[in-house]
Amino acid sequence: MDILIIGGGGREHAIAAALAKSPKTGRLYCAPGNGGIAALAECFPEVKATDIDGAVTLAKRLKPDYVFVAPDDPLVMGMVDKLEAEGFKTFGPRANAAILEGSKAFSKGIMKKYGIPTAAYETFTDEEKAVAYIKEQNSYPAVIKADGLALGKGVIIAKDFEEAKAAVHSMLVDGKFGKSGSDIVIEEFMDGTEVTVLAFTDGKSVKPMVSSMDHKRAYDNDEGLNTGGMGTIAPNPLYTPEIAEECMEKIFIPTVKAMSAEGRPFKGCLYFGLMLTSKGAKVVEYNCRFGDPETQVVLPLLETDLADIMEAITEERLGELDIKWSNKSCACVVMASGGYPEKYETGKSISGLDERGQCADAYVYHAGTKLADGKYLTAGGRVLGVTVTGDDLRSALDAAYKAVGGISFEKAHYRKDIGKKAL
Ligand code: AMP
Ligand code: GLY
Repeated sequence: MDILIIGGGGREHAIAAALAKSPKTGRLYCAPGNGGIAALAECFPEVKATDIDGAVTLAKRLKPDYVFVAPDDPLVMGMVDKLEAEGFKTFGPRANAAILEGSKAFSKGIMKKYGIPTAAYETFTDEEKAVAYIKEQNSYPAVIKADGLALGKGVIIAKDFEEAKAAVHSMLVDGKFGKSGSDIVIEEFMDGTEVTVLAFTDGKSVKPMVSSMDHKRAYDNDEGLNTGGMGTIAPNPLYTPEIAEECMEKIFIPTVKAMSAEGRPFKGCLYFGLMLTSKGAKVVEYNCRFGDPETQVVLPLLETDLADIMEAITEERLGELDIKWSNKSCACVVMASGGYPEKYETGKSISGLDERGQCADAYVYHAGTKLADGKYLTAGGRVLGVTVTGDDLRSALDAAYKAVGGISFEKAHYRKDIGKKAL
């Protein structure tokens, strides 16, 4: 099977690496791809991941057997629908199911209707009503979320009334997140530990992958701004078999059933962002795709052929498939450009990588790099995800940090405490 992957970050590099291992895989293509992905797939940097028409035109030219749409924006914008209409087989949900990530008001509504545990909430479009609700709740921190996609930045955890009021104003009046913030969700703050569980689903059955732990803040001890993710570990030891069972019964199966009952069957990878609270596991958010950088630590532990899973989902026979996972642990440390997630420079030369963009003792997933005259240059906020699979978490983390020590670029920044909470 020739496969075209849409996207160009560390997640897409991990998907490409998993598919490259499959004996079923023929040619691999990636649009736009990046410097590191180019070692595995022919890349098309001129086709951006959000360019629906460009992707359809490229697919018509390359005639792949599958198109794997990895990022949120094209899924929410309906890239899968457009590709299907042209006769292509795809991996990823249609727009009517991707809305589970595309609209927080929609996803909260589904959870309320089907009794799926999540934070109590209300939705608003009117500033006065929103502020009155915050006053009436009188509970801080208060959580204020833009309805639509906002690069993970559309959530404000306000510590008091003044901050909450300002957050509402910035979204509803100043239009801080554009159309994404013209509706807002105000919800109860949930105290607890966060766990990510990615799950394969064909709309009928759901097969959770190994759990993981993301590190969203820029600096050690969860300080600094929220980022796309500074590092991950899998499995997440806080996610015990008992909790997994509870989540399967109360969250995963009900969500997949709910979407099918609504006439919006979800096919692809469904991301459950969970909070383990004193009152049980609750949904923080759904994403309609693989997480980044969760994928970088989850897929290396997958023993079943990803191409087989992809086909089983298309043919709606995922329930028949026995998906096997390694018992090992995996750790990914993200090396970012100094200043990320705010202003940062790009074009810095990266040292410590071989001609394939790899190093001896780790798998280096490229998030934001480009290849120029045979040299790897930084080309984004998150640059590399240095990843190691080990017999246990401690050895995976030690080896990942050792490998990070051998790679450098000007103003490189990484967290020193990835996985520490899990040891
Ligand atoms: P989201 O984009 O909805 O995942 O929110 C981003 C981050 O904000 C989450 O990963 C949590 O760390 C935090 N967060 C969101 N909603 C809540 C909540 N209701 N209670 C506590 N933390 C939250
Ligand atoms: N790592 C969080 C996400 O992919 O949304």
